[in-house]
Amino acid sequence: MSTRARVSAPAKVNLRLHVLGRRADGYHDLETLFQAIDLSDEVVVELRESGGVELSICGDVSGLGPIADNLAFRAASRLAERVGFGGGVAVELTKRIPVGAGLGGGSSDAAAVLRGLARLLDVADDDLRLRACAEELGSDVPFFLSGSVLARGGGRGEILDPIDALPAAALVLVAPPVHVSTAQAYAALAGSRAATAAPSVPVARAPRSWSDVAAGASNDFEPVVMRMFPEIRRALDALTAHGPRFALMSGSGASVFAMFSSEEESRRVAAALSDELGWPCHVVHTLVTMPKPRIA
Ligand code: C5P
Repeated sequence: MSTRARVSAPAKVNLRLHVLGRRADGYHDLETLFQAIDLSDEVVVELRESGGVELSICGDVSGLGPIADNLAFRAASRLAERVGFGGGVAVELTKRIPVGAGLGGGSSDAAAVLRGLARLLDVADDDLRLRACAEELGSDVPFFLSGSVLARGGGRGEILDPIDALPAAALVLVAPPVHVSTAQAYAALAGSRAATAAPSVPVARAPRSWSDVAAGASNDFEPVVMRMFPEIRRALDALTAHGPRFALMSGSGASVFAMFSSEEESRRVAAALSDELGWPCHVVHTLVTMPKPRIA
């Protein structure tokens, strides 16, 4: 039996994000478009004869909370318990995706642990126990577990409609030096809408091209989150000033990203913005396939 698996845990951006009404369980219904990108954390999962779950983290650990609250730790504990695995599990996590950035890093780490552990324990990809763990861990985890790189998300994010991947494209990604709490962003949005009914959003068709994506690109969190964090407004304005095909905030922030006419133009803009803003500006690429767990 293999005992060690290595899994790449890519970040995502939301190419569209509409927040609908608040539900009885306190969550909000969404209408979103998830796209995986090539900025990734790395997870190594190893089975041990005994002991509980251990998590060690290296890389960019700024903004991370206690180990026991980490989604990668909770993912390993939850799946081991649900499938009745009595041995130990050691997880090594290398962080590169910034925390509190709207890029889904914690959720992707959790999904990577579920996929790696499932592979080692011979749990099938479509096993309902895996799906249940993903939904319990967080609203973005089911997308990363799904194996799709592009999908529409409904419900609280867990109802997924996979879409054929679009050709790999460069994005300029800017991470302003602030952390946005997702719960705080939802509360601020709900507060700003207190006097109005939940918006009704036309059902968007699946995009077949980057032009379709550009035509539908919007994020309901932008106005409220940019009021809370002027740095995010500054980053989005700076991207917009360079004439992108579209520019957006991802998730509930803090990252913003934009698509330009070519890879070369993206590199030129990223270099100019690094000087102008003094914050991390990267050229990343949309993924066309989700990397699979490898036995290590
Ligand atoms: O599911 P996740 O743990 O990522 O969500 C964090 C918080 O964001 C939730 O506790 C909730 O306050 C808010 N949320 C929401 N509706 C969603 C997703 C998250 O209200 N669809």
